[in-house]
Amino acid sequence: VRPSGTDDDAARIAAAADEVAAWWSTEITRIEPGIIELRGFPIEQLISGADLPSVIWLLLRGEMPAEGQARLLEAALVSSVDHGPQAPSIAAARMAATCGVGLNSAVATGVNLLGDVHGGAGQQFMTILADIRTRESSGEEPHRAMRAVVKPWLAQQRYVPGFGHRVHPVDPRRKPLFSLLDSAVADGVIDGCYLRITRSIEALLTESRRPAPINIDGCTATVYAELGFPPELGRGLFVLSRAVGILAHAWEEQGTGRRIKGPFPPTAWARTPPRETGRGGR
Ligand SMILES: CC(C)(COP(=O)(O)OP(=O)(O)OC[C@H]1O[C@@H](n2cnc3c(N)ncnc32)[C@H](O)[C@@H]1OP(=O)(O)O)[C@@H](O)C(=O)NCCC(=O)NCCS
Repeated sequence: VRPSGTDDDAARIAAAADEVAAWWSTEITRIEPGIIELRGFPIEQLISGADLPSVIWLLLRGEMPAEGQARLLEAALVSSVDHGPQAPSIAAARMAATCGVGLNSAVATGVNLLGDVHGGAGQQFMTILADIRTRESSGEEPHRAMRAVVKPWLAQQRYVPGFGHRVHPVDPRRKPLFSLLDSAVADGVIDGCYLRITRSIEALLTESRRPAPINIDGCTATVYAELGFPPELGRGLFVLSRAVGILAHAWEEQGTGRRIKGPFPPTAWARTPPRETGRGGR
């Protein structure tokens, strides 16, 4: 039996503390009593001088964005913040909010629906843009590189992600976002190579029998690619933005006090004629 409080014990405790600190080591945050630093910036400085898009950029990229970069990121985040209850993620969050699960679960329900098919088109389109860029960088003629990537997608998947919309023949978010992108190219904030590729894909899809206009995922993917975000973070940023709309809808629904909201109003069920069972009864 060893007496407690020896030098050995102190050394062992210090070693364990170092091990735990190393286990949770991060370049993002430094937290000590009275100190909060994000990527080396004191929180006091960020509170008084930084906007949210810049802090998002700072946390993800490790440095502050230039003013023009922050403006573009903000525009993309604003543009995809909500698309109403026709979007399954919003509808699911609103239904969840009436089930007694609490706001956090309602928001998580909506966010968890943002998958490859609903909400994931931007990430997929960023991969397409990156593949075309890689071909261009190895000397392939741009139009040829674009067709070499897009045509197989169309053949295999039928759809190019980031194009087509059930509601909007022309997405109202395209014009302001593209105009900001054009200004950012003119100001030297971005180089415009992904914007050029997006426009060439738009032109290709306009030639087809049923033109598919660019949608919000295609527009924001172009912004995120121009800003140098990898495709996975493109999806992450979309989720961040859409989470705001999901929260607002879940909160509004919860505020109505409605219980157990289903996909149809009960009155619609009441008006539905009973179906014949085929066995002579109902
Ligand atoms: C959004 C979407 C589901 C809308 O689909 P829709 O309105 O039901 O369109 P349809 O499936 O009826 O397609 C109508 C025609 O346009 C074509 N089309 C639609 N979107 C297309 C796209 N993204 N790429 C190529 N062609 C497309 C279809 O091939 C179809 O042509 P056809 O009549 O010759 O078969 C569909 O455009 C799509 O899956 N887009 C890609 C994924 C995406 O970007 N999702 C995010 C939406 S905000």
